[in-house]
Amino acid sequence: MNNFRIIARNSLRRRDYSLRSPPSRSFCNLSQESNRPSYGIAFDIDGVILLGSSPVGGSPGALRRLYDDSGALKIPFLFLTNGGGLPESERASEMTHLLGVPVSPFQMVQAHSPFRKLANRFGNELVVAAGKGEPAAVMSNYGFKNVVSLDEYASYFDNIDPLAPYKKWMTGQEVHKETSRSRENVVSERVQAAFIVSDPVDWSRDIQVLCDILRTGGLPGKEIGPQPLLYFANDDLDYQTKFPTERLGMGAFRIALESIFNRIHDNPLEYISFGKPNPFVFKDAEDVLKEIATSHSNQGSHHFKTLYMVGDNPKIDIRGARQAGSPWFSILTRTGVFKGKDNHPEFPADLVVDTVEEAVDFILTRESAKRSLI
Ligand code: G3P
Ligand code: MG
Repeated sequence: MNNFRIIARNSLRRRDYSLRSPPSRSFCNLSQESNRPSYGIAFDIDGVILLGSSPVGGSPGALRRLYDDSGALKIPFLFLTNGGGLPESERASEMTHLLGVPVSPFQMVQAHSPFRKLANRFGNELVVAAGKGEPAAVMSNYGFKNVVSLDEYASYFDNIDPLAPYKKWMTGQEVHKETSRSRENVVSERVQAAFIVSDPVDWSRDIQVLCDILRTGGLPGKEIGPQPLLYFANDDLDYQTKFPTERLGMGAFRIALESIFNRIHDNPLEYISFGKPNPFVFKDAEDVLKEIATSHSNQGSHHFKTLYMVGDNPKIDIRGARQAGSPWFSILTRTGVFKGKDNHPEFPADLVVDTVEEAVDFILTRESAKRSLI
């Protein structure tokens, strides 16, 4: 029985989106000809658009059909991924490069994107950000004023990782350090929260140091204290990359950390998991698609008749779209986690296709048929 306690999830749902400024015309470049589109599309990335960093399922060609000849966005779409580790602007340029279509940072909804809303809450308090890529840069981009990566944080504590001497990839590696910080300041300042921004790389070190932080009220090496807050960007047990079978995800790391923590500590681990299939993620995606759809007109709010979620993981993408309900229509591809012949028994999609190319073809045909009926 998972004996952890979820706290404060409800407050997230009452989110207002006011923090993020609506996209300027140039930002999303929705073409003038697309008059208030009645539908929008959310694409999962791993297993639908990319496998690792390679396009899959004809994704470049499929996405090009959503732009007009001038390269302006014709159909509002975004990427709704449980992945992360880079600021949205950098990830957008990476996607533009990999797919050959102009992707704006506004179209990048990553698992850690909602962390932006927590920046004010922590003010100048020290928080630690873990995971691959640039977790500290991601968080400072969101407005966190006193954030340090777990890599850098651990480097201030001698002997905190007894296995470090055996980690060939670490020996001789300089950890990127923010000049302004002094060791004395960091080791004496209480960590108020830990954010798992993207998939952790060094599990043994990360689990060790996170336990040190979470058991001691944020002061590793000191006496037991109240647990600081802990946030996970997603809870995916596994996901699809280039290797033939699924790879362990952030959810697997969470299970490892939680089972170890609960064995060495009196109180069970408390944490909040973000990311799909949480309903608020789909509510946010709908808000962003509305802003994209109205980016070329100041005609206020927008109503979608249909929002398509194209995903590869039934437990995450399809379950999320089903829970979110109307106007979401779920499409399951066979290029990622799901490889079945028919539909998924527990979380059946509205439609199952082989590739994202087939999904876009279906969507454009269906929507133009609807328009011809008007
Ligand atoms: O780490 C990312 C992975 O868990 C899933 O990514 O794009 O399939 O939601 P995505
Ligand atoms: Mg996926």
